[in-house]
Amino acid sequence: MSEGDRQQGLMEKLTALAKRRGFIFQSSEIYGGINGFWDYGPLGVEIKRNIKNAWWHDMVTTRDDMVGLDSSIIMNPRVWEASGHLSGFTDPMVDCKQCKGRFRADKVWAVKVQHKEGVQVVGVEADSADEARQAASAALAKIARKHGSADIVEVSSADITLQQMDLAAGFACPACGQMALTAARKFNLMFKTYVGAIESEDSVAYLRPETAQGIFANFKNVVDTSRVRLPFGIAQIGKSFRNEINPRNYTFRSREFEQMEIEFFCRPDEAAKWYEYWRDLRHKWYTDLGLKSSKLRLREHGKEELAHYAASCADVEYEFPFGISELEGVANRTDYDLRRHQEFSGKDLTYFDDEMKDRFLPYVVEPSAGVDRTCLALLCEAYDEDQIEGEKRVVMRLHPRIAPIKAAVFPLVKREGMPEVALAIYRDIKSHFPTFYDEKGAIGRRYRRQDEAGTPFCITVDGQTLQDQTVTVRDRDSLQQVRIDRSRCVAYLKEKLGLP
Ligand code: GAP
Repeated sequence: MSEGDRQQGLMEKLTALAKRRGFIFQSSEIYGGINGFWDYGPLGVEIKRNIKNAWWHDMVTTRDDMVGLDSSIIMNPRVWEASGHLSGFTDPMVDCKQCKGRFRADKVWAVKVQHKEGVQVVGVEADSADEARQAASAALAKIARKHGSADIVEVSSADITLQQMDLAAGFACPACGQMALTAARKFNLMFKTYVGAIESEDSVAYLRPETAQGIFANFKNVVDTSRVRLPFGIAQIGKSFRNEINPRNYTFRSREFEQMEIEFFCRPDEAAKWYEYWRDLRHKWYTDLGLKSSKLRLREHGKEELAHYAASCADVEYEFPFGISELEGVANRTDYDLRRHQEFSGKDLTYFDDEMKDRFLPYVVEPSAGVDRTCLALLCEAYDEDQIEGEKRVVMRLHPRIAPIKAAVFPLVKREGMPEVALAIYRDIKSHFPTFYDEKGAIGRRYRRQDEAGTPFCITVDGQTLQDQTVTVRDRDSLQQVRIDRSRCVAYLKEKLGLP
């Protein structure tokens, strides 16, 4: 089995598990779903909440230089004129004249495959050359079966810039394989709606495509009301919406998603220093949450890749089963946003530094993360299979901070007073952290269920408990069982989970 097949297999197993156990469901599934929208089930919602709580705790609560904000999703449309989204938040789109498929032109790749009859072009949609190779693996295997052998000889991106919208020849449709793609055209990603009863040009509004602009629009409010002094940040977690041309890779590219964004304001001459600080801190944050450093990487953008307003930018990337892709972007955005909002609103957004006695527009460093992508990376990282007594076990090795359920409590059997004791222990633990009680079915199956949910510890009440008040605690990862006094359950779990 090729590495591409193995990784694709992993994605299929993960999505099946996520549905089976209640992590992630397709939105409006009973009506056939809706492309690019996802629902988080009872386990998924806890993971998302844990990610957001960890971020808020680490970036806001425990810092002296950060305040929070919760701005509205729909704002005055002038905000999007000032930010440049109305004119520039577009992706180049191509259609296939043959199958009517629609793709982002800059994500179309040609994978040239050599076989004994000649060279064949396989069209795929991907974020990177690495992902393009993986995406072409099924087609490659088919060509190899037909011709005896097949080798990838070249992987090239259509990489359509907005100035050069003609799709170069040699790109096959990623859906039907025909050479039938149209020239690219611009497509604005903002979802449009109308505010009020009358649908007219005057009532047009947009669902925000990023939470960041709510922060810039409130910069003056926060400075005037919160006693913050430079350098300081404003943090926000919230939903954003982008009418992505082709949502892909499960929740990775969705049309509705959640962002965790910080705008960190500082003196212009200190922006380079703060940029490095945030880039390194945000990279480390993911390893602390359980993502292996070998799968994480920090990629500094080259000058040619930078947006016109950015002085520097880096992506925190993760090696997903479908390729290496962005989890978070950290950028030094200079004073671009505040300058534009000052110009468009006519309001003075300058800051007076009472120590240096000067007035200026602050620079901003922006670490911008996605909740859904972090969640997906943590799920991919956690998925594992091993063997217990010759039987395959699927286990989600989630970090204790992220695990949706921290402990499960079982009576070994449903009689002899064991359920009553187990329920009392369960209620005690549940007042401290999310805990699950289960008395149905064979004990081995109950353990397996919790392994799939990523529950770090299972506590079992058995015959001995009734004699000496001890319970067994099973560790999800080491599979070791220890006996402890039932009165020590909460203290034991707190210590092992490293939770307050
Ligand atoms: N304010 C800057 C900004 O929004 P971005 O790189 O467009 O920058 C930041 O988005 C983060 O938001 C991304 O790194 C990603 O984690 C998340 N994100 C963006 N588009 C997304 C989508 N369509 N689906 C899921 N997450 C997305």
